[in-house]
Amino acid sequence: MIKPIANYEAYLEAYQKSVDQPEAFWADVASHFQWRKPWDKVLDWNFDEPKISWFEGAQLNITENCLDRHLAEHGNKLALIWEPNDPKERFVRYTYRELHEHVSRFGNVLRKNGIEKGDRVCIYMPMIPELMVAVLACARIGAVHSVVFAGFAAHSVADRINDSGCKMVITADALNRGAKQIPCKAVVDEALAECQTVEKVIVFERVGWPVHMEPGRDFWWHDELKGVSAHCEPAVMEAEDMLFILYTSGSTGKPKGVVHTCGGYMVYTAYTFANVFQVKPNDVYWCTADVGWITGHSYLVYGPLLNGATTLMFEGVPTYPDPGRFWQVCDKHAVTIFYTAPTAIRSLMAAGEDHVLSYSLDKLRVLGSVGEPINEEAWHWYHIHVGKERCPLTDTWWQTETGGIMIAALAGVSPLKPGHAGYPLPGVQPVLLDQEGKEIEGNDREGYLAIKFPWPSMIRTTYGDHERCRLNYFDTYKGYYFTGDGARRDEQGMYRIIGRVDDVINVSGHRFGTAEIENAINQNEHVAESAVVGYPHDIKGQGIYAFVVCREKEFDPVNLKGEITETVVAQIGKIAKPDKIQIVSGLPKTRSGKIMRRILRKVAEGDISNLGDTSTLLDPLVVDEIVEGKL
Ligand code: WTA
Repeated sequence: MIKPIANYEAYLEAYQKSVDQPEAFWADVASHFQWRKPWDKVLDWNFDEPKISWFEGAQLNITENCLDRHLAEHGNKLALIWEPNDPKERFVRYTYRELHEHVSRFGNVLRKNGIEKGDRVCIYMPMIPELMVAVLACARIGAVHSVVFAGFAAHSVADRINDSGCKMVITADALNRGAKQIPCKAVVDEALAECQTVEKVIVFERVGWPVHMEPGRDFWWHDELKGVSAHCEPAVMEAEDMLFILYTSGSTGKPKGVVHTCGGYMVYTAYTFANVFQVKPNDVYWCTADVGWITGHSYLVYGPLLNGATTLMFEGVPTYPDPGRFWQVCDKHAVTIFYTAPTAIRSLMAAGEDHVLSYSLDKLRVLGSVGEPINEEAWHWYHIHVGKERCPLTDTWWQTETGGIMIAALAGVSPLKPGHAGYPLPGVQPVLLDQEGKEIEGNDREGYLAIKFPWPSMIRTTYGDHERCRLNYFDTYKGYYFTGDGARRDEQGMYRIIGRVDDVINVSGHRFGTAEIENAINQNEHVAESAVVGYPHDIKGQGIYAFVVCREKEFDPVNLKGEITETVVAQIGKIAKPDKIQIVSGLPKTRSGKIMRRILRKVAEGDISNLGDTSTLLDPLVVDEIVEGKL
């Protein structure tokens, strides 16, 4: 288990060592794990092909490190606390010993059903303990898991299954989400009509919905477990064997399967989890992300378990049965570390302070944010009302492709600055590049964010298409991993992520991050949330189009727009004045909470004939409203 860096001087020292002697640095971190066979070579790499290989020659099984190795001393410690959607339903707790047993049994179920090392298994499940068990059981036997968020529609599920040729799907009858119940198995059935490679489907009964069971193909989870041994010999994996595939959207319509491997991913997620959250033995840690996203993989499942921590999984949504649910769960389970997304904070902020003020939250020690730039207003609200100004709030920047957190404060150790992810973690060498790909030196500068040296959990390939990986990440700027984000390094060298560079707007030669303008707009007391996109403007090149969600139901649109403009002018200057402000009742978001800017850009451009696929949206109806009200 990793001992976190204790103070800022030690961080600086660790950082320096990680740059001067990266191999010695990571070999030292890696020595804290259980390997079946040590490595021959710590690192072999080039960013041209690209080829990235960490701990070559080493063998391991990540679940031995997540589970078995804790049993002797911490077998009775809680590994998992599961809180159901309905607060009246009983919660579930598994010790490390119990989780180990569940994973072992289910690993045997997979083997019994013909799954072998290297086979791909699609997991399309609700946020229930069996999801974690399924993921770890795959890793136990060396199968490659491909978790697909259980909100994707059948066609998207089919695309992902086909792209990686999955042999099995693990799912549930249906899932609970707030007051609603949503089918899973029926979606899988529909998807499988488009798939050839799936031989078996294992179905967990969560809700008790009637489902179609295809004879010879579909089997119940509980039936398959009958008489299965609780001993499951772990598959011995090479460090660079695939651990999982996770699909993520790129600039094109087709999602790409980001590939992570066993050794490097294990070392990096464990190291960053311990350090960023400054984890202590008795912490109760809660990451609200769904396991369907990278945050759930790295910081709900693997990072915490690798450190022998207690991780909380929540089935429901922040607003059910009311917008105090997160805080009620924090109090109920004495949560000490809480990690969530700005979008959740903003929506709870809009629901008013009363919901948070009625809970004590006195066990909370550390707060985290992830997934998008956190605007300063949300940062302060979170820090003041949730953290009571007592808990360090670490804004963590990273990506599906990076596998783990890259730029973030070590909670309570590094300086904090609202809106800034801060300094890179040890082992991470970020640079800012200009248009030509030249490194921008010095502080108080802005540029394209790239990373110039490999770290253990970086993307290895995009499944089945290595060239796509090269073109996407290693070709734009030769010799660098290109993140697709723009960033600013402030006077102190702290990084502020501005947003995707595909979201940059150039207005009369002035460049703005859309997030920067949103930040300003959100400062207005009437604004709950906003999204800004560029659109072609005859004189300025690009104009600024703002979609704004108002906090109140009743408002005078003319006044409100005037006020918002004034706020932006006061925050940034006249050059950032929105050309158009459309007041909307909601923004088109994916189910993970990301705003679908592609749709807003099309509306702003007046090109509404082809809005593309809106099926993955949380609420497709808001698109109709936005199109109708377009300016
Ligand atoms: C954005 C999520 C600002 C960024 C872990 C990145 C952030 C993309 C932050 C990756 C942050 C993530 N501040 N922006 N703290 N964290 N992003 O793959 O644009 O879902 O490139 O990984 O989210 O999103 P992904």
